[in-house]
Amino acid sequence: MANDVLKKYNFDEEIDRRGTSSLKYDFGVERKGRDDLLPLWVADMDFKLPDEILEDLEKRVRHGVFGYTDPKQDYKNALKNWFKNRHGFEIEEEWNVITPGVVYAIAVAVRAFTEPGDSIIAQEPVYYPFRETVELNGRKFINNQLVYKNGYYEIDFEDFEEKIKSNNVKLFLLCSPHNPVGRVWTKEELTKIGDICNRYGVIVFADEIHSDFIYKGYKHTSYMELGDKYIKNLVLGTSPSKSFNIAGLQIANIIIPNEKIRYRFKRENSAGGYSQANIMGLTATISVYEKGADWMDELNDYIQDNLDFARDFLKKNLPEIKLIEPEGTYLIWLDFSEVTTDRRELAKLIVEEAKLWLDPGIVFSRQTDLFERINIACTRKTLEKALLQLKDAIEKRKGKI
Ligand SMILES: Cc1ncc(COP(=O)(O)O)c(C=O)c1O
Repeated sequence: MANDVLKKYNFDEEIDRRGTSSLKYDFGVERKGRDDLLPLWVADMDFKLPDEILEDLEKRVRHGVFGYTDPKQDYKNALKNWFKNRHGFEIEEEWNVITPGVVYAIAVAVRAFTEPGDSIIAQEPVYYPFRETVELNGRKFINNQLVYKNGYYEIDFEDFEEKIKSNNVKLFLLCSPHNPVGRVWTKEELTKIGDICNRYGVIVFADEIHSDFIYKGYKHTSYMELGDKYIKNLVLGTSPSKSFNIAGLQIANIIIPNEKIRYRFKRENSAGGYSQANIMGLTATISVYEKGADWMDELNDYIQDNLDFARDFLKKNLPEIKLIEPEGTYLIWLDFSEVTTDRRELAKLIVEEAKLWLDPGIVFSRQTDLFERINIACTRKTLEKALLQLKDAIEKRKGKI
């Protein structure tokens, strides 16, 4: 409580997002056939940016001219300083390539570094556009399934190496921290992965979009920190969009230290017709990276409290739902296999009975059809409401209510 007095920002503020064309709130009818669901699905947040950042955006809007714009030195400095101060690594200015998003950049990498029919590896359960961008571009998706044991996910390194070797894999899509299982990979794990990729000449696309969300007791290691031997094969996907809730402004910074790899990536980016970045995305990036550190710290505290709240709630009220303890990200991954063993029943429970819109586990991997992913970057009140709806639905099933 004493700490709260010192807080600058109010993450409990309820902001009505309906009627803003919000993907999360305004597309229930189109996507789920109904508009009575409480949405905790797509990975954006229900929080508002602080005034000091909104003022920079307003100032740019008030200027009134929105022509073609490119990043100047202030943008480059803001980016460099954020990664140096928050994550402890240096980037050189020319390493950065701007794209409209990280998923877009993955698709560019797929086309730049592989040919149709080539194999690309990733680790399911994983953020579903990984598989989609590979398959929609006519490449072969190779899965190094993460191993789920005692409520914890680990990498099967042997399988990883064997599949790279036997499929002549050219590109690895690494999710770090991992969505949806919430692992923050250790330096040791990343180095092991890096050694295997180096051995077979595999380029690593490290998607670190969630790296600003790390729970107490864990430390994110960027692939960039592994050293020269590793970063020569690296394409690092970063973006302020997840950290500062500006996904709608469509900007990502793709950091590529190796000149030859960067050239191939840039060429493919241009082949897609992309050139100048969105002006509001550029303005927001400078502002959040220069002024957003305190907000980010308090946001992490709030999300940590949400996680603690959810864990306690589940333990007390719904012990049959297993929370996979996340080390990072604002997404929690829940195992419902003790509630039901039927995927359709689970969908019925979540949507029709609990009236929740979550991300069903099946979209991340065929093997996780009895899981659900919940986005906890919402107010405590919303989170509590969602968990109560879930509790009531399950109790009704058991005939308790
Ligand atoms: C791992 C991961 N990568 C990328 C994205 C989306 O990035 P963008 O909107 O920049 O394409 C998400 C969004 O949830 C994500 O979880």
